[in-house]
Amino acid sequence: MSTVIKGGTVVTADLTYEADVAIENGRVAAIGKGLSGDETLDATGCYVMPGGIDPHTHLEMPFMGTYSSDDFESGTRAALAGGTTMVVDFALPSPDQSLLDALSMWHNKSGRANCDYSYHMAITWWGEQVFNEMETVVREKGINTFKHFMAYKGALMVDDDEMFASFQRCAELGALPLVHAENGDVVAQLQAKLLAEGNNGPEAHAYSRPAEVEGEATNRAIMIADMAGVPVYIVHTSCEQAHEAIRRARQNGIRAYGEPLIQHLTLDESEYANPDWDHAARRVMSPPFRNKKHQDSLWAGLQAGSLSCVATDHCAFTTEQKRYGVGDFTRIPNGTGGLEDRMPMLWTHGVNTGRLTMNEFVAVTSTNIAKILNTYPRKGAILVGSDADIVVWDPSKEKTISSKTQQSAIDYNVFEGKHVKGLPRYVLSRGLVSIVDGEVKTREGHGEFVAREPFQAVNKALSTWKEITSPRKVERSGIPASGV
Ligand code: URP
Ligand code: ZN
Ligand code: ZN
Ligand code: ZN
Repeated sequence: MSTVIKGGTVVTADLTYEADVAIENGRVAAIGKGLSGDETLDATGCYVMPGGIDPHTHLEMPFMGTYSSDDFESGTRAALAGGTTMVVDFALPSPDQSLLDALSMWHNKSGRANCDYSYHMAITWWGEQVFNEMETVVREKGINTFKHFMAYKGALMVDDDEMFASFQRCAELGALPLVHAENGDVVAQLQAKLLAEGNNGPEAHAYSRPAEVEGEATNRAIMIADMAGVPVYIVHTSCEQAHEAIRRARQNGIRAYGEPLIQHLTLDESEYANPDWDHAARRVMSPPFRNKKHQDSLWAGLQAGSLSCVATDHCAFTTEQKRYGVGDFTRIPNGTGGLEDRMPMLWTHGVNTGRLTMNEFVAVTSTNIAKILNTYPRKGAILVGSDADIVVWDPSKEKTISSKTQQSAIDYNVFEGKHVKGLPRYVLSRGLVSIVDGEVKTREGHGEFVAREPFQAVNKALSTWKEITSPRKVERSGIPASGV
């Protein structure tokens, strides 16, 4: 059975052109004019783009005494409804747990996924076992990215010696370290101080995580990565201080990548001043939403190329779960949703405003991510042989975002009431037509794990340079006798 997407304009990260796209066996089989097939999807007036890839989700994640409420079924259904055809989630070993056990647990959860997925492995503790298992994870399990939390002291946080050891191991294995960059020690002190002063509402969450906390940690992570001779990827870059560290590093030849979230690009700190406790608590995430100065910096970074991609960090908790933190903001589960809304919100606030070109939109929602995570051109491309993860994007289709019509399992939406223009007409997951004009036709369990090979080019270049420039003992003839 073949499918042809007919009459649209193909938009990729580097080209815009009119062509039909033919699909067979889940892959792109031909691109050109006048193609035909068993099934035709009308793309008149639409852009035919690589499906979105969300490099940062937490589905059914155990965190802060509960589990995030979207699992691999509802989360990937939400993803597809918004034009995202692949998610990359985090396998999180608990303290002393084997990385391989954690990975099995995550594989058990993901069987119901509606679209393809991959994993990052988190380094939540350090020891010889972790050092050894990292090799198995990279060489045998198809995972080439390791996440490090510099925040969540007493829980997920690792400190500098552990991070440096893990980064060096990543360099050896051809893996890419990812970092949640916030200074966890300072956050813990600020939290205690705020609580002691009676500042216990959700707004204090933002007060406890100022931009400096993120800027400092981002710079530290980048410098440690540079010393380890490995590229580094900073997740949820939310502020100018962090962006500045990334920008400066890149200008100095360091391979550092920054990932703003759609939430930080479009929502600001005034949300925490809302008199409704639930409203503010539902928006508690780390890092917190910030002011316009920071938002402008993030948009500029996407335009200039100093920031590489846009994610969601989708980690959805119900209002009931958020209320665990009534009277103590440090107990509000951290996280917000966004999987269904990332693409329409970025199109509306990026492409429709002229801040991004359509090609830049594809780059930051899909192609750059596929390249950074080493799954290009299987994903992130419309090329013959690529997986047919495709969104047929209708730039004239509009809606108002509402929790009443969303796919996510939670009872609210942080983008509630936002009007978007630009939505999927069709979304295909490896050729399976999963969304038709807002109608959900996803197939539970259709999603497959995407194994990713270790990195060749960037890590090799860095290790070559590291070797050439490494400190060397000065060989001397005629060493004088010791002057005793
Ligand atoms: O608040 C957030 N971001 N929750 C999810 C876990 C993380 O830090 O990414
Ligand atoms: Zn230590
Ligand atoms: Zn994080
Ligand atoms: Zn996260």
